Amino acid sequence: MIKKAIIPAAGFGTRMLPYTKAVPKEMITLVDRPAIDYAIDEAVSAGIEEIILVTSKSKNLIEDYYDRYFELENALEKSGKKDALEEIVGLAGKCRIVSVRQKEQLGLGHAVYCAADLVGDEPFAVILPDDLFLATKPVLAQLKDAYEKNNGPVLAINEVPIEDTSKYGVVDIERDLGGSLFKLKSMVEKPKKNPPSNFAIVGRYILTRDILDELYKTSRGALGEIQLTDAINAVAKRKEVYGLAYEGRRFDCGSKIGYLEAVVNFTMQREDLRQDFIKIIEKIKK
Ligand code: G1P
Repeated sequence: MIKKAIIPAAGFGTRMLPYTKAVPKEMITLVDRPAIDYAIDEAVSAGIEEIILVTSKSKNLIEDYYDRYFELENALEKSGKKDALEEIVGLAGKCRIVSVRQKEQLGLGHAVYCAADLVGDEPFAVILPDDLFLATKPVLAQLKDAYEKNNGPVLAINEVPIEDTSKYGVVDIERDLGGSLFKLKSMVEKPKKNPPSNFAIVGRYILTRDILDELYKTSRGALGEIQLTDAINAVAKRKEVYGLAYEGRRFDCGSKIGYLEAVVNFTMQREDLRQDFIKIIEKIKK
């Protein structure tokens, strides 16, 4: 059973400056909640019980968001704002959240490795909170099902335009196993040319302990950083690693336009806002 998820949240968020000068990019607002809260809900609905946040200096707001806030709770209670009170208390009880600091920004692989001691020997999930999804069944739950059936690491993969492959980890597919599951031959991080396919790795993974051990030995790769993709690739040479072309729509909230697209789509999911929001869009179109 997969009970723990690592959420790397230590990056500077340079693509979203100047906002991210003072506020962690994971705390950017989508309707009325920080983006990371959608990722954490996805994890909880897939049965994750413990989130390991990998943070850095100036990311304390994330921890504050999931902490109790007794002064606010008392104020809401006194003013009879029961729904708001329930919601605030609920946040702190959503799941167990622990954190570890990544003291130097040496790459995604290094960030994940910072959580190794807290993960132990169990299989675990990795959630990149920039990537948010709208799906009938949460993407992490789809990955977990595939892991349970095949007992090997599973990466979420998605077709992207070939000219965008240099922004991603890109997989080489060995075999189509049916049901949108593929056995992967290898993968390469941010290929400058000749990508092995147009299937990109996107921000959800179910991984195993041997990948953490491999990360310990992994030297700097693309962009001079320790890359998670390189460690998974090394493990794929000796055992089966899978890619799941999940059902759902992805939003890259780490980019300005991807974030705006997410705001529009997540607002449209809200019964309390949908109709008024459509009216606003129609006015703009005129
Ligand atoms: C990271 C991973 C990359 C993956 C991407 C998905 O890259 O290293 O393999 O394709 O996330 O969003 P980053 O976006 O942090 O550069």
